[in-house]
Amino acid sequence: MMARLRVPERSPGSRILGVGVYRPTRVVGNDEICARIDSSDEWIRRRSGIETRCVAGPDETVISMAVEAARKAMAQSGTQPDDVGMVLLATMSFLEQAPAAAPRVAHQLGARSAGSLDVAAACSGFCYALGLADSLVRSGDARNVVVIGSEKMSDIVDPTDRGTAFLFGDGAGAVVVGPSDTPGIGPVVWGSDGERHHMIAHDRSWLHTRETPGPWPTLRMAGPEVFRWASRVVPDISRQAVREAGLELSDLAAFVPHQANARIIDAAARSLGLAPHTVVARDVVTAGNTSAASIPLALGALLSRGSLPSGAPALLVGFGAGLAHAAQVVSLP
Ligand code: UT7
Repeated sequence: MMARLRVPERSPGSRILGVGVYRPTRVVGNDEICARIDSSDEWIRRRSGIETRCVAGPDETVISMAVEAARKAMAQSGTQPDDVGMVLLATMSFLEQAPAAAPRVAHQLGARSAGSLDVAAACSGFCYALGLADSLVRSGDARNVVVIGSEKMSDIVDPTDRGTAFLFGDGAGAVVVGPSDTPGIGPVVWGSDGERHHMIAHDRSWLHTRETPGPWPTLRMAGPEVFRWASRVVPDISRQAVREAGLELSDLAAFVPHQANARIIDAAARSLGLAPHTVVARDVVTAGNTSAASIPLALGALLSRGSLPSGAPALLVGFGAGLAHAAQVVSLP
């Protein structure tokens, strides 16, 4: 008889056990941004809701911010470094092609037996990584997974580009996902539309920069087109994620979409007809758009208020470059 392979013991569910954030100390207002673009504080507030954003200094890197956020999430959940089986780092602003940033993050966390990898799904990266973490924990392939979104967008945004300079900010947020007797992370609804990859993209490739020396690649965005896509996709996948989790929209204690623009967040909340008791994350006002870090940062901000009960359902919705999207309902830690 052929030998039969053993597989890990499965867990009935997974859940978020702790959340940690890191916000760079330098806070930049709209007037400082407007010194380099033809814009105004009034326009930026009205069209995006953003009042300030944090901008990382030279010592605040994708790796260092990820480590700080992850340490806090591990401390909050009581997770020891040796109990971490995987580190997933969602980022679009780590500037080294190889190796990935995650192994260095795992090393600095002291997670000696953890696998580690970067997840490249831009602004939806955190929800993608969370979906993967849920699968890893439920399959038994990892006992605890540290999921991080960390971005130094100021490295890849052109401060003279009127279409993006005012939008983005820096920071990191992390969660620890571990086993649970009942499901605490619902089915992930994800998808992508590579035909529209050019809508949020670097303005040139590294190859082009090598052949035609010039400024290094920076991000460009077809703002209005992305806005229209987001306004349609966010309500659609929100409804789907809630349905697949076996809940009603009225069950939600919190709605935590990617913090791209306060107008997108408010329009989605209106279109979903969220109940008055559903708290809507609006971290974008003081953090800007921090890409993969925005959802855990916004989640951390909501939890720090102390009014959301542990176990209450929150809807997370990521969307952005790719174009890619991902959403799931989670039980709050
Ligand atoms: O994180 C990934 C996903 N990203 C998103 O979801 C972002 C989606 N897009 C947006 O949030 C919005 O498109 C922006 C906030 C980026 C731009 O707002 P908008 O209302 O779509 O502006 P627009 O590009 O349609 O421009 C409207 C007007 C134009 O003037 P006219 O043609 O009406 O006279 C622009 O020239 O505003 C002008 N404009 C500006 N004015 C002052 C464009 N950029 C600026 C600016 N300051 N920075």
